[in-house]
Amino acid sequence: MTERQPFAAESPAALKVCREVETLRQLLSGPRQTGRIALVPTMGNLHDGHLSLVREARRLADTVVVSLFVNPLQFAAGEDFESYPRTLESDAQALEKEGAQLLFAPTVEEMYPAGQSRTRIDVGDIGDMLCGAHRAGHFSGMATVVCMLFNQVRPHVAVFGEKDYQQLQVIRQMVLNLHIPVSVRGVPTVREADGLAMSSRNQYLTPKQRGVAPKLHECLVEAARRVRSGGENFGRIQSDMKTELKAAGFEPDYFELRAADLSRPHADTRQLVVLAAAHLGRARLIDNLQFDSKL
Ligand code: PAF
Repeated sequence: MTERQPFAAESPAALKVCREVETLRQLLSGPRQTGRIALVPTMGNLHDGHLSLVREARRLADTVVVSLFVNPLQFAAGEDFESYPRTLESDAQALEKEGAQLLFAPTVEEMYPAGQSRTRIDVGDIGDMLCGAHRAGHFSGMATVVCMLFNQVRPHVAVFGEKDYQQLQVIRQMVLNLHIPVSVRGVPTVREADGLAMSSRNQYLTPKQRGVAPKLHECLVEAARRVRSGGENFGRIQSDMKTELKAAGFEPDYFELRAADLSRPHADTRQLVVLAAAHLGRARLIDNLQFDSKL
């Protein structure tokens, strides 16, 4: 454990960093008696999107725990597990400023002492569609580590970004199906001034690709506009948007209109979400937009 400042009875900006599950449990036993605990799970390399989750967590609980763990279980072979940016010191500084109390940053050995976990969460069909169809085992690996974090921290509330819309649905379903006593809160996506959703992976973009990247969000907005103006076949809108993305230099994995629960929409479904994932150079960007088809 890295001693920064004492945990209790100090300024709200005090942050402790701990790397062991046992220490985490000890540090949380006092705060658990007196107030609510919020967990913000992250893989670090924090940006404003993450910090907006911390702000929401502070609003909802007395003690905010941020976990920082680049989880090997949710990366498929050939993905960016090794190169994923690891910036513990600057993350700790940002969290201290934001008023989080505890940063839990376990090692891979601490989380998976017997090698990788043999016990995995099976998330069912929702894990095979959209991103799951392109990232084998991703949602199972993600749900497994989130379940572990829930068991380690035992938070009253856990806060996630809506940018990872499918991830949020998978977690909500897991919590419901496994009767996990935590309330799950989603927070709207934070965007750059030109509409690009904030993501740690944006730094993989070259300056030229960064200029093109907001096109992904523009296509989501355009798809929602076309649905709202009515009379158009969803399949046609999806394929037109993929064509536009390809023309701009993206390689789309998918561009899909779905009902808010990610089922296939019917003509009269009002609460919709349009989701996209596309490669642009080294970066795989994902984004989505929730909208009401009649407004
Ligand atoms: O969204 C992420 O950063 C990760 O998928 C999460 C939820 C921290 C689990 O590793």
